Amino acid sequence: MDLSQKIAELKKKKNAVILAHYYQSTEIQEVADFVGDSLGLSQQAISSNAEIIVFAGVHFMAETAKILNPSKKVLLPDLAAGCSLADSCPPEAFKKVIDQHPDHVVITYINCAAEIKAMSDLVCTSSNAEQIVNSVHRDVPILFAPDRNLGKYIQKKTNREMLLWDGSCIVHEAFSFDKLMKLYQSYPGSKIIAHPESESHILETASYVGSTAGMIRYVKENPTYDYIVATEAGILYKMQQEVPTTLLIPAPAEEDNHCACSECAFMKLNTLEKLYNCLLNETPQIDIHPSVQQKAIAPILRMLELS
Ligand code: 13P
Ligand code: SF4
Repeated sequence: MDLSQKIAELKKKKNAVILAHYYQSTEIQEVADFVGDSLGLSQQAISSNAEIIVFAGVHFMAETAKILNPSKKVLLPDLAAGCSLADSCPPEAFKKVIDQHPDHVVITYINCAAEIKAMSDLVCTSSNAEQIVNSVHRDVPILFAPDRNLGKYIQKKTNREMLLWDGSCIVHEAFSFDKLMKLYQSYPGSKIIAHPESESHILETASYVGSTAGMIRYVKENPTYDYIVATEAGILYKMQQEVPTTLLIPAPAEEDNHCACSECAFMKLNTLEKLYNCLLNETPQIDIHPSVQQKAIAPILRMLELS
């Protein structure tokens, strides 16, 4: 039996579900029960009847699943699979800013630690950020964290000022504008699509800006163009399955790396072998202090109700 078959057997035996993000390796996406964006994965996590959730993604995603399912085992194949954006917002520093702005409603992008969610009024993802911000009365000031690029983009879309935390994603800030423009010129008639964690000069070139699931949906609905895709390259696997005859080109990163595209090193820490071992040994598990879990669940549930 190969590893994928062994995982499928174990999964059945243990009543486990595998949830994977679009940035996971192809082989992990293949063994997953559900592949999606952060919102879709949270919705799956709350509705699953499985006893064990194996989260093939990064730490904040598995933590969100655990916050929503405190009595279930939530496993992450590699505990070191973090996120630069989540790391850019340490809880103590964030608490200070909240204390300095007691009149602000606190909206946090889901890419943050459980402790940050526990200090938030509302959580959002890239697919519902505009909707969540618009759910707050226009006269009420908003503190938005941790992604300054998503924050700036939503400020523009909603035409409202927000106090922005200065965090960012190393992968989405690595795109080279000059290389992107050269690539765009060499594919006349192509369109650029981008994830809102990208910088504003990249977003301004895009015909569509949205979450990973939104980008896949957009391409599926408009399959007759060539696309330059400005997000992590793992998305191309599912996207290409949806539009087999469409040319999809990963947006180029500033630094020349092995694939001339952008890869999230944190996401890629998970491997099929680690996934198998974690399901077999039921470790590493995600643990959250009950006091943090109890506070962090409310803003996520509010988001799910509004989505
Ligand atoms: P999505 O929710 O759009 O999949 O984004 C998650 C993420 O980490 C993007 O870098
Ligand atoms: Fe975090 Fe960026 Fe990786 Fe997404 S791509 S998980 S935001 S580091």
